[in-house]
Amino acid sequence: MHIDIVTLFPEMFVGPFSESIIKRAIEKKMVSIAYHNPRDYTLNKHNKVDDYQFGGGAGMVMMVEPLALLLDKLMESKKYDAIIYMTPDGNRLEQKQLNQYISFKNIIVINGHYKGIDQRIRDQYVTHEMSIGDFVLSGGELATAVFCDALIRLIPGAIGDGASALTDSFQDDLLAPPVYTRPADFRGWKVPEILTSGNLKAIDDWRHDQSVEKTEQRKPWMLED
Ligand code: ADE
Repeated sequence: MHIDIVTLFPEMFVGPFSESIIKRAIEKKMVSIAYHNPRDYTLNKHNKVDDYQFGGGAGMVMMVEPLALLLDKLMESKKYDAIIYMTPDGNRLEQKQLNQYISFKNIIVINGHYKGIDQRIRDQYVTHEMSIGDFVLSGGELATAVFCDALIRLIPGAIGDGASALTDSFQDDLLAPPVYTRPADFRGWKVPEILTSGNLKAIDDWRHDQSVEKTEQRKPWMLED
C-alpha cells in the first residue's frame, strides 16, 4: 500500500510514524508514505497557499490552485483507489471501513488547515470525506495520523501476532474482553481463575461472555445491527 499525504505540515507525522508497529511496517516496506506540500505548488509570488473567504467570514481557506496542481501531478503517475479529505463534517471513520480500505493500493489523504480547503477541490477530486469524531481539530494532520495508524496495523504481518488484530474491539462487532498478564496475584488483586485453568474452551466462552456484557453496557447499539 502507498499513501500520499497532502499537508502544509509534514513534520507533524514524524513522531506518530517513527515508533512501534507503524515504524516497523514502513521499514518492512509493507507500506510507503510520501508527503506533498501545497506550498511547493503555489504560483503566487509570495508563496501564499491560503486566502480570505469569498462572501466574508472569519478564517482563511486553502486555495484551489496549489492543491489542484499538486493533485494533478500525483494523478499523472498513479491510479488512486481513494482520494480522502479529512474533515470534521465527513463520514465518521469506523473499523468496518478500514477493513475495506486495506485492499487499496494507492490512496491520497488531503489535510485541510485553517477554515478548510476550497470546495472546488472537494467537488472535483475528493472521493471520500472522513472524520474521526464529532470535534474539531486545528487541522487534518492528527486525524490522518489516527487513520493511518488504524489502517496500517491491519496489513497482514504488520502486527507480530497475526491473530491479535482480529481479536481487537469492533472486529467481530463486539468490544474486546479484559486482558491480564503476570503476576496472577498483585496486592491481592487476582486474575479471574478461569484464565489460569488451562481449559481453552472455557476461556473462550468466558471471553465471549465478557465481550457481550461489556458491549451491552457500553455500546448496546452495536448488538442491534
Ligand atoms: N479536521 C479537523 N477536525 C477533524 C476531525 N474531527 N476529523 C477529521 N478531520 C478533522
